[in-house]
Amino acid sequence: MTNESAHNQTAGARESIPSRDDAPAMFDRIAHRYDLLNRVLSGGRDVLWRNRLVRHLPPGDDLRVLDVATGTADVLLSLISQSSRVNCGSGVDLAERMLDIGRHKIDERGLGDRLKLKHGDAQALPFADESFDVSTIAFGIRNVPQVDKGLAEMYRVLRQGGRALILEFSLPGNALVRRAYLLYFRHLLPRLGAVVSGDGFAYSYLNKTVETFPYGEQFCELMRDAGFINVRQDILTLGIATIYVGEKP
Ligand SMILES: C[S@@+](CC[C@H](N)C(=O)[O-])C[C@H]1O[C@@H](n2cnc3c(N)ncnc32)[C@H](O)[C@@H]1O
Repeated sequence: MTNESAHNQTAGARESIPSRDDAPAMFDRIAHRYDLLNRVLSGGRDVLWRNRLVRHLPPGDDLRVLDVATGTADVLLSLISQSSRVNCGSGVDLAERMLDIGRHKIDERGLGDRLKLKHGDAQALPFADESFDVSTIAFGIRNVPQVDKGLAEMYRVLRQGGRALILEFSLPGNALVRRAYLLYFRHLLPRLGAVVSGDGFAYSYLNKTVETFPYGEQFCELMRDAGFINVRQDILTLGIATIYVGEKP
């Protein structure tokens, strides 16, 4: 089955898609449990997926990274701890409580002089044109109300030859695997998420937004529309997540 038909198969979820404008407030509510929930609900895979981003960094040293929708800063911490080529990083998010936890983690690791977080909207990034070598977003682009604006901003802040790395949930290509995964994703994950986070809404939001968001070639096309070239996919864990890479010409 193609990505297109897999996408259509989940059209039922589209009818009740929650508003993305409410996402930052929802993440503020669950911020205190966010990292724990990621580890539990993904069986620790989320850490491996973020760690994999390092493979897609552009060539060169002293890289400056912007992590959009940075949440609790796990992408920045992963990149800076894994690659000596990363010099410094900034993170932006609209959820202050998520940022507070991120700042605490950065300070704990003594990285406060190299990693800075600030309040900011993915659709109007508070940075000058061409000020970064890499722009990243992990599990965030799906939450941005106007995806095209978010991609355009990730493009704008990159220098020529810079790269955007986008990690996002996708759906397995194999029909049997997808069926099994959707059983977990639609039924077990929202219940587990509700128990651990104490927020019944947040983890039904997750499966509805994932099932209605473009992935695979459809998402690559959105990146090309934003101006990126050499767009490619690194498909992770049977297609449960994908890293999309695009370059600024
Ligand atoms: C699923 S979390 C991902 C956090 C982090 N990137 C990670 O890998 O764990 C999604 C984040 O997107 C943020 N977000 C949603 N809409 C946003 C927007 N328009 N601008 C900036 N951040 C946004 C939320 O506040 C939340 O922290």
